[in-house]
Amino acid sequence: MVGSSYIQKKLLRDHSLRARAEKVIPGGMWGHMSVKALPEGYPQYFSNAKGSCLTDVDGNKYIDFMCGYGPIILGHKDEDVDTAFVEQLREIDLANGPSEKLIDLAELMVDIIPAADWAMFSKNGTDATTACVMIARSKTGRRKIAVARGAYHGAAPWCTPRLAGTTPEDRSHLVYFNYNDINSLEAAVSSVGDDLAGILVSAFRHDTRVDQELPSPNFARAVREIANRTEAALILDDVRAGFRINLGGSWEPLGIHPDLSAWSKALGNGFPIASVTGKDVYRNAAQQVFVTGSFWCGAAAMAAAHATILKLIRMDAISHMEILGNMLRDGIREQASQLGIKVRQTGPVQMPQILFHEDPEFRLGNLFCITALKHGVYLHPWHNMFLSAAHSETDIELALTATQHGLEAVAAAN
Ligand SMILES: Cc1ncc(COP(=O)(O)O)c(C=O)c1O
Repeated sequence: MVGSSYIQKKLLRDHSLRARAEKVIPGGMWGHMSVKALPEGYPQYFSNAKGSCLTDVDGNKYIDFMCGYGPIILGHKDEDVDTAFVEQLREIDLANGPSEKLIDLAELMVDIIPAADWAMFSKNGTDATTACVMIARSKTGRRKIAVARGAYHGAAPWCTPRLAGTTPEDRSHLVYFNYNDINSLEAAVSSVGDDLAGILVSAFRHDTRVDQELPSPNFARAVREIANRTEAALILDDVRAGFRINLGGSWEPLGIHPDLSAWSKALGNGFPIASVTGKDVYRNAAQQVFVTGSFWCGAAAMAAAHATILKLIRMDAISHMEILGNMLRDGIREQASQLGIKVRQTGPVQMPQILFHEDPEFRLGNLFCITALKHGVYLHPWHNMFLSAAHSETDIELALTATQHGLEAVAAAN
């Protein structure tokens, strides 16, 4: 059981699996889930998960604050969602066409998302952001897309953050602005004359390794006004934040309706599904672009997404995550202030980012997280984290015991 006296066992099996992987998998692991970028002590391999708890292959248990980097919003192995998935699987999953679940899910999304008159489905966030860009270009007949510097929109050649394997041409039609900076957005837009197809913007600034920034109401309004003025698409990338801030879309509380929205991660509580939703005026353009994939019509993931949304509504999951997120943030603030440590906690409380003052190499952040990990709490030193509806007050209390150990280690090292 994870608890205040919990101490992580050695990662013996994990290391033997890593050695096997090195021989047959390039670099042992690819992408964001490789623990090579994390300090020593993070497990790479897991064997079980339930609710808010994650178990590694050596039997260590952690209260999980990464939630699979976002998809797990109702908790691991949520029974309602898993049942919907399995029942659908027993009937039909992949066939020569979709099941009725496609329409059920599209109707539900159109129902709950004010800016959605239609919905399409795919598998990954990158499918959805890429389709949004194509639909914007198809509608406007223009080429340029304005994106915020440092924002992550996926791993296709036009947006992947590493340049290996890409060409300059892949992103030659992107122009850059700074998030929350209206002047820089105006400058980027005017630099492309009448060739602007869309402005692609994240729900909030959630770049890795820096403080998160919520969109200022003025910035969000300006994005909408500039898109209207230039007749370009306002594309909201809600892949990471979607369903954690507002079920109708993350800019709904700001009163700003995107023309196109990209969704994925939390939509299926871990089952693979993504979506593009859009306004009526983009319906025809969406129909023109050829986007598809062998697995995009899998009915079981659609059933899971349908069940996920209904449960999020039923249990008022966002309020629950906010209450617990505030409890965690307040607790850490109090602990840090008692120890005289300067810690920056940014972003929505249900998607916290914790960075330390004057810690450019994340020496303190790494120490904090590794110490918490040893005490059974899985945090991340430089990526935003995620709460889920399965976290409980007890989880937060236990997490605060681990963060106290973590902060004491930071105080001792300072
Ligand atoms: C904001 C944002 N957009 C797009 C993506 C790409 O999603 P996927 O990894 O499912 O392709 C991500 C993934 O982390 C994301 O956070």
